[in-house]
Formats: sequence, C-alpha cells, structure tokens
Amino acid sequence: MKSVLFSRFFILLPWILIVIIMLDVDTRRPAPPLTPRPYFSPYPAGRGGARLPLRRGGPDSGPRRGAQKRNESRPRPDPQLPTIYAITPTYSRPVQKAELTRLANTFRQVAQLHWILVEDAAARSELVSRFLARAGLPSTHLHVPTPRRYKRPGLPRATEQRNAGLAWLRQKHQHQRAQPGVLFFADDDNTYSLELFQEMRTTRKVSVWPVGLVGGRRYERPLVENGRVVGWYTGWRADRPFAIDMAGFAVSLQVILSNPKAVFKRRGSQPGMQESDFLKQITTVEELEPKANNCTKVLVWHTRTEKVNLANEPKYHLDTVKIEV
Ligand code: UGA
Ligand code: MN
Repeated sequence: MKSVLFSRFFILLPWILIVIIMLDVDTRRPAPPLTPRPYFSPYPAGRGGARLPLRRGGPDSGPRRGAQKRNESRPRPDPQLPTIYAITPTYSRPVQKAELTRLANTFRQVAQLHWILVEDAAARSELVSRFLARAGLPSTHLHVPTPRRYKRPGLPRATEQRNAGLAWLRQKHQHQRAQPGVLFFADDDNTYSLELFQEMRTTRKVSVWPVGLVGGRRYERPLVENGRVVGWYTGWRADRPFAIDMAGFAVSLQVILSNPKAVFKRRGSQPGMQESDFLKQITTVEELEPKANNCTKVLVWHTRTEKVNLANEPKYHLDTVKIEV
C-alpha cells in the first residue's frame, strides 16, 4: 500500500512542478505594449504619492543630509488647495524632450498640479510615455493628431490638442461635484515663474496677467483701473475683444464645466484670435480678475526656442549606440 502511494506521488510530482512554474511565469509577464488609449498616471492627484524624481543615489545627489533638506522644501500634498490643471500641447521635434524637461522641472515645484500633456500625434510616443513615467508628476497623457490640412504656416496651432484636454477634464468631472480647480494652457516652450501659480490658484472665474516677450513687444498686459480690466496694452490688433496670449489667463474648473460647449474653433479662427474666440464663449471683459499686482508684473514669458542646427547630423545612423535625445 505504502509503495503504491509512493509511486503515485512520483508520477504526480513533475506535473505539480510544471503547474507551479507556469503560474510563476504568468505573474512575471512583461507589461503589455503601449496602446493609443489615454494614459492616466498611477500617481494620486495629490503629490503625496508622486514618485521621487530619479536623483537619489546619482553622482550629484549629494550627502544624505542635503537630500533630506531638499525633500522638505518640496511642495506637500494639500487637498485644500484647488488643483491646477495645466494643458500642454506638444509635438515631435529635436528639442521636444528638452522643452518638456524644463517644464517638468518647473511643475514639480508646484503643489497640487496635474499635468495634461497632449501629443499632436496619431499615437502616444515612446519618448513622451517614458518621459512622463519618470517625471514624478501627477499627469494624464493624451494624443490627437492635427489634420494635415491644418498643418500649414499661418494657421492656428494646437487647437485639437487643447480641445482634447478640455474634453478629458469635462469627462473626468462629469459625475462628481466640481472640486475646486483652475485650468491653464501651458505651451511647452514658454518660461513660467513659480509665483505665477500662486497667482492663478485663486482664480474665481477667469483671471488675467501680463505676458513677457510677446506680440513684438517686451510685454503685453491688460490695462487695469480700479481693479477692473478696461483695455489692453498690445502691439497687435488691440481691437480683439480679449487681446491676450494663451499664456496670459486661467479659468476655473467650474466655468469650464458650466460652459460645456466652449472649445477652440478651427472654422474662421486666425492665429492670434484663438484666445479671444475662446474667452468670448465663457466670460466678459468686465468679469476678468486681474492678477500679478493689477497686471503690473511679468511672471510668464513667451520664449521661443530657436530651430536647432543639425547640419552635421549624418543621414544614416553612424554611432555604435542608439541614444534618445
Ligand atoms: C503662439 C501662441 O502663444 C500659442 O498659444 C498659439 O497656439 C500659437 O501662437 C498659434 O499660432 O496657434 P507660438 O510660440 O507661435 O505661440 O506657437 P508654438 O509654441 O509653436 O505652439 C504652441 C503650442 O502648440 C506648443 O506647446 C507646441 O508644442 C504646440 N504645437 C505646435 C503642436 O502641438 N503642434 C504643432 O504642429 C505646433
Ligand atoms: Mn511658443
């Protein structure tokens, strides 16, 4: 009897081992490849769960004491603060990763910020996906291609991408009471001071402020009298109802949700008119809230990166390694 049991056990043993190995392999299966679905960051909207940027242990990470000090000065999650949603359209070009790096370095220092990065592309790119996964920021990764007929000089840019960001925001908040939030359109090449985010955080409906290095002038700004916007200091088409650059205003989430049809329009829209056409749908000049000391301080600059010189770039790959730039 004993020997029968013993031999059965040896017959079954290899099968048991095979089942164990199969289960083990299955749980170690690599992550599925990228799909064109939007990517929602695993980080919670607060900054508490945000993964630290990859600087620990690096050659320049400094002594432990220094690192600790830096962490203390990092913004803490504060659910009391309205979330700032920054919608950034971006497209593939040699300087893209450099632009996004500068932007992430700024955003990482802002508490309670959610980055909505919208690629002008038919699918989410590997470069941007990898970048966002390591950016240490609560983020959402969307994509929508600009139709080819609109990719011409003289036509407005990033219309479809900003609308995709708006649609995501509206969908995310459709079933819940609007949490306090502020939306801001952050182009990937501008320069943003940290003070700008403190200013826009208190937006009740639509707030405005000056923008540096824009419109062929050192700056443009809303003209303010007795705390109200009464006109525009601008070098270009001052007759626009809202003569302001995309970087010069923020909108409360409540206003975005209560005007579900407000979008950027292709039809009839010229470059430089997009902002005005959008703001016309959601507010009036009288309602605007001037920020930055009654619009007398420049806290954002419409910088533009020069086209990079790749004259010596070989036609075919010559290096022994492939490097992402
Ligand atoms: C000005 C305004 O500041 C922009 O807000 C406005 O969208 C743009 O004009 C326009 O002509 O529509 P400018 O510096 O001339 O800005 O424009 P870019 O910085 O080249 O583009 C604005 C944003 O759209 C950037 O975040 C850029 O990455 C993105 N973009 C640009 C795309 O997603 N796809 C493109 O083909 C070009
Ligand atoms: Mn720009």
